[in-house]
Amino acid sequence: MAMAFLDIAQVSFSYPGRAPVVGGVDWRIGQGEFHCLLGRSGCGKTTLLKLAAGLLRPQAGRIALCGSEIAAPGPQLGFMFQAPTLLDWLTVLDNVLLPVSLQRRPGPQDEAHALALLAQLGLQAHARRHPRHLSGGQQSRVALARALVLEPPLLLLDEPFAALDAITRAELQDDLLRTCRQHGTTVLFVTHDIAEAVYLADRIAVMHGGRIVDDIAVPLPAPRSQALRHGPEFNALAARVREAMDRSGA
Ligand SMILES: Nc1ncnc2c1ncn2[C@@H]1O[C@H](COP(=O)(O)OP(=O)(O)O)[C@@H](O)[C@H]1O
Ligand SMILES: [Mg+2]
Repeated sequence: MAMAFLDIAQVSFSYPGRAPVVGGVDWRIGQGEFHCLLGRSGCGKTTLLKLAAGLLRPQAGRIALCGSEIAAPGPQLGFMFQAPTLLDWLTVLDNVLLPVSLQRRPGPQDEAHALALLAQLGLQAHARRHPRHLSGGQQSRVALARALVLEPPLLLLDEPFAALDAITRAELQDDLLRTCRQHGTTVLFVTHDIAEAVYLADRIAVMHGGRIVDDIAVPLPAPRSQALRHGPEFNALAARVREAMDRSGA
């Protein structure tokens, strides 16, 4: 079997003095694949994502990116949280350039690249504005551009669209899929929303009680389009995922 791009092997974690919240998780993601981690609130999704980001260290097992153990967050991965977490005293452009600024002084090339990303996300007209003047959906796009500005080979997202209305969320899902396809980005996307997982993912990890309880392939055609949501294939997959969650108690 080919080496996995991200390889999570027998990973366990507990917060100090607590019962394990991630227990013996095995999961592999191939390069360029888009996987969703799906489960109810409290099942350990954020903890597993933080382990994959190197923000937490596993007490057992190993997480490797292209064969090398992940020891700390770095430019090899982009992270996007549930809240956009933009800095309101910086312009949209400077927010997008933040990961570059943490490494070096951004140059004209960095700026051109950030502006191109903003343009891809329909935000070129807002580059010099401040985040408070933007809608929730626009702020999420800025956070997505920021997560992508260093062109990380791996993108980790933690319920990034959960606070958005359904129409804006659908637009952001399409933006995300398109941008990741263009850059060949490998993605692990956390959600508690079955329809979101089916629409986005090549493969879904169903999580419950700190464990991966099911592994569901999503053989829908790519690129995805909104019309798919109303088709019988989509609904059969959503029902299959729902059944997996009910069966496990997830
Ligand atoms: N910093 C922490 N210290 C102690 N317990 C935590 C901490 N963060 C999360 N937990 C607990 O770990 C479990 C899993 O949390 P989390 O990974 O955030 O789940 P999810 O993202 O699926 O909602 C929950 O029971 C939560 O209360
Ligand atoms: Mg969470």
